[in-house]
Amino acid sequence: EPSVATTSAPAPAPAPAFPERTALRRHYLMCRPEHFAVTYAINPWMDPSAGASAELAVEQWEALRSTYLALGHEVSLIDPVPGLPDMVFAANGALVVGGRAYGARFTFAERAAEGPAYSAWLRANGFADVKEPEHTNEGEGDFLTLDRIILAGTGFRTDLGAHQEAQEFLGRPVVTLRLVDPRFYHLDTALFPLDGENVAYYPGAFSPGSRAVLERLFPNAVIASEADAAVLGLNAVSDGRNVVVNAEATGLIATLTEHGYHPVPVDLTELRKAGGGPKCCTLELRTV
Ligand code: ARG
Repeated sequence: EPSVATTSAPAPAPAPAFPERTALRRHYLMCRPEHFAVTYAINPWMDPSAGASAELAVEQWEALRSTYLALGHEVSLIDPVPGLPDMVFAANGALVVGGRAYGARFTFAERAAEGPAYSAWLRANGFADVKEPEHTNEGEGDFLTLDRIILAGTGFRTDLGAHQEAQEFLGRPVVTLRLVDPRFYHLDTALFPLDGENVAYYPGAFSPGSRAVLERLFPNAVIASEADAAVLGLNAVSDGRNVVVNAEATGLIATLTEHGYHPVPVDLTELRKAGGGPKCCTLELRTV
């Protein structure tokens, strides 16, 4: 008689809670903070009277660069320009996707000259298709690229019109997210892509509607606490497996480990005096 069930097979081993994560090799553009300083205040982190050291910033930045190299990534460098103390925040210099570059147009006059400097570097380094933007936008500070869509922040820096301009130029769907907390003035201070499909974020940085959008798009997102966000823990850089993240974001680091990622803590406390972390210092040059 045929039997439909068997009791003799051993019970299968429990599946791991999360799959093995895979790193993809990246190409980053960085700018050594030789002229770093906090001489003006354009976000709540910046206090010109607090004193910031270019020397210490360079030391911490060199450790970040070494971390990327040790993880197997390629790092290109753009020359720092005297008088542009925030130029170390390369993420703001452009949005590069599929080998095309959507140029930055800064909100504040203090940083305006950085846009043309980054566009010129890209043109001189093999990116023939660089778009001069009509709309104010701060590059990867407010545009974060996933496999199928680009998430775009607005509310403090980047204009809604830039979301449309980027979508039309890059041919990728751009999803608008509204930022509401001035501490998290760029999208990359409140959210980062874990890989091509999923993200980590701090819900309190977003309007109610944008929170609902994030919940719908990313039901399995890693949710960060306010404490982790307040040390710029969400300003992290993931290659799909390794997550370079501010060391003080201890709760987030534990959660990432539980989800199968490999956190790589770094100390960028000096750059945080300008409101930046690892991601701000890093522009990804995407050829695909
Ligand atoms: N001081 C800079 C500014 O306020 C910091 C930029 C940080 N960059 C970033 N991608 N969030 O513009």
